[in-house]
Order: sequence, then structure tokens, then C-alpha cells
Amino acid sequence: MDQNALKRAVARAALDHLQPGELVGVGSGSTVNFFIEELGKVRDRVAGAVSSSERSGRLLREQGIEVLDLNEVLGAGRRIPVYIDGADEINPALQMIKGGGAALTREKIVADACSRFVCIVDQSKWVEVLGGYPLPIEVIPMARELVASRLRAMGARPKPRDGVVTDNGQLILDVAGLRIEDPAALEAEINQWPGVVTVGLFARKAADVALVATAGGVEQRLPARG
Ligand code: A5P
Repeated sequence: MDQNALKRAVARAALDHLQPGELVGVGSGSTVNFFIEELGKVRDRVAGAVSSSERSGRLLREQGIEVLDLNEVLGAGRRIPVYIDGADEINPALQMIKGGGAALTREKIVADACSRFVCIVDQSKWVEVLGGYPLPIEVIPMARELVASRLRAMGARPKPRDGVVTDNGQLILDVAGLRIEDPAALEAEINQWPGVVTVGLFARKAADVALVATAGGVEQRLPARG
């Protein structure tokens, strides 16, 4: 099966995790694009969506799905029971590297506002130790070199992502050369550096369930106890 077929299979499986008549939080990326297409076919099942990027928001509207503002939803006391998103890497604890599509900050915000995170990936994203995929960090441009020098001091290789400005007007550093043995500790450490908007480690709040598309079908995996 090619990778797009795997992505579509897992996107379709995610429909079973929607709460009928409720809102859904929607992430970003190519796997989520398939999910949005599948959601469009059953759009009456949800009350609307809260999106994590301008692009996903546009695709949702094209499917006839109402996109609501997060502040208005929370301000009205409404709940968002489920968040559906992909990942660049995911480990057995269901901790993730995200941000390959530069939407990590809004993804982390929307994920935090939702009760349950359903991560949809194909088997190629499954790793024992995070860090093979360069870790994206959203940074305020003025702090680029300050943050990069801290990363180099840790033995990592940060590189600004060419030509990318995030939906929040900031830049992305892609950080190679990290073997992330303690994702939650590294997330907490980098998050408190001045100039860092968001680090693309989703570890302190990991996914609640992963749907993993394999050649043999879509597997549901729960977090391994550490
Ligand atoms: C977007 O910023 C990312 O966090 C995506 O969730 C991640 O890059 C996975 O994307 P794909 O589904 O395109 O692999």
C-alpha cells in the first residue's frame, strides 16, 4: 500500500472517534487533509470544527464544515471532546514531534483545549526514541541566534526553515542531532527560553490514543506505561 493509501485509511478510521453532534478540533498536515475530506462526507455528524491552521480552516470550509473561533467556543462554555491530528514522530508513550507543517503553536493550543487527542499516523512515524526527525521550534525572529546558540551548546544543529513564516508571523528552527530520551523534560526546558514561542514536542500532554496505519490495517495503540 502506498503512503497516501495508508494516510487515507487512518483518516477514515478517525471518524469512529468523533462524538456525534459535538465539535471536533482539527490539526494540520497531509494526513489531516485526508481526514478533512473524509469528514466532509459525514459533515452532519459534527456541530463544527476548531482549526489549528489557516490552511485546515480553509479546507474545512470547502467541505461545508463550519469553523468556529476557539475563544468564542470556550467563552460560551462549550466543550471540544476530541482533537484529531497527525505527527512527524510518535513513541510508545504517545509523545510526539510535531510542526513539520509549521502549525505547531496553534496545534498545541487547540489540542490543549480538547478533552482527548487522537493521533493519526502511518507506521513510518512510529519510533522508539524521538529525535530522528528534526525538532521544529517556533521562535520570535529577534531571538533566532540566542535560541540557536543554546541548542548548539547542547550538541544539536539548528537551521532556520527557509522562506517559512508561521500563521503567527514567526520563524521555525528545525533542530537536527537530538536524541530525546526525556521528551517531557526537554519540552519544559526549551519552552522557558526567552524568544521561544512553542517547541514541537508534545510530551507533557501526549496523545490519548494513536491510530497507526500499517500494511495489515489500522491499529489502535494506547500509551505504554513507562
Ligand atoms: C503540522 O505542523 C504538523 O504538526 C503535522 O501534524 C505533522 O507534520 C504531520 O504531517 P503529515 O500528516 O503531513 O505527515
